[in-house]
Amino acid sequence: MAPKPRRKSGQGPDETGDVSFMHPSEQEFAKMLDYYKVPYLYEPRSFPLRWEGNRVVEMFSPDFYLPEQDQYFELTTMKQSLVTQKNRKLRQAKELYPDVNIQLLYRRDYVRLLGKYGYGPLSDAEVKGLDRVLFTEEQIQARVGELARRIKQDYAGQSPIFVGVLRGAFVFMADLIRKASDLSIETDFISVSRYGGGQDRHVEVMRDIDVDVAGRHVILVEGIVDTGMSLRPIMQHVLAKRPASVEMCAMFDKRARRVVDVPLRYAGFEIPDEFVVGYGLDYDERYRNLPYLSSMQVVEPKPVPQR
Ligand code: IMP
Ligand code: MG
Repeated sequence: MAPKPRRKSGQGPDETGDVSFMHPSEQEFAKMLDYYKVPYLYEPRSFPLRWEGNRVVEMFSPDFYLPEQDQYFELTTMKQSLVTQKNRKLRQAKELYPDVNIQLLYRRDYVRLLGKYGYGPLSDAEVKGLDRVLFTEEQIQARVGELARRIKQDYAGQSPIFVGVLRGAFVFMADLIRKASDLSIETDFISVSRYGGGQDRHVEVMRDIDVDVAGRHVILVEGIVDTGMSLRPIMQHVLAKRPASVEMCAMFDKRARRVVDVPLRYAGFEIPDEFVVGYGLDYDERYRNLPYLSSMQVVEPKPVPQR
């Protein structure tokens, strides 16, 4: 197999309109990365897997490379037989190149990821209402207490600024700061738009921090981290203000779905890949006022046929 040529690199829309991606799903994935201003390279490198003498007879060219995350992605949106083959190639590549991070994005993960950003079929998913309680009010309050204790220890004698990411963080933040009442702190909020859509496809700061954070210790407080694609640019935005430090604190962590790395110093509960509401988190702006965390009953639409 001949090495594949370098075709496109992000970010930003393709000025020429000449996007020669192999598969529409790859194009959709690229659009999502553009939306989040995540720089990427499309098939920038081929990894030799098998040789006959000096001749390379098999290669693996992951679809995307995210230089900031030093992470390759291979999308598996095709037939099951191809998925099996890709899995084998991925295993071999990992053995031969142990320092290279390659992740396989399965069709299911990928569809959900796109759906979340209004691109894919999950945007048509039917939501039936609350499903079941994942964490009770008591469990949540106990865990927030533990996080507050750790923060109090780590910031003893300092006066950190808690910056809540609106709107999902406000309930958590209110509990957290009151459980850290013997710490001298300041609070502020930041809000970003993620679902801008249309031509305006990126994370944009809608409401910036007012407090001057230069030289200060900042704790970014978020309700839930999912792909990490919104918290990471927020972190970078805050870092540009030259604080003494920035640490990330999130009540819920959907780690299984992480696409870009965000170092969470304080995490409440790890949760499975399910859509959840309550304790500040919403579905269509509802349910934020539930004192517990509940999953939603989502009926996924039938998969779109692949070619
Ligand atoms: P990320 O940028 O993919 O990490 O998504 C984080 C943001 O998406 C959070 O601030 C929430 O607003 C929202 N979000 C992610 N997962 C859920 C969920 O399960 N329920 C409600 N909101 C969610
Ligand atoms: Mg929301």
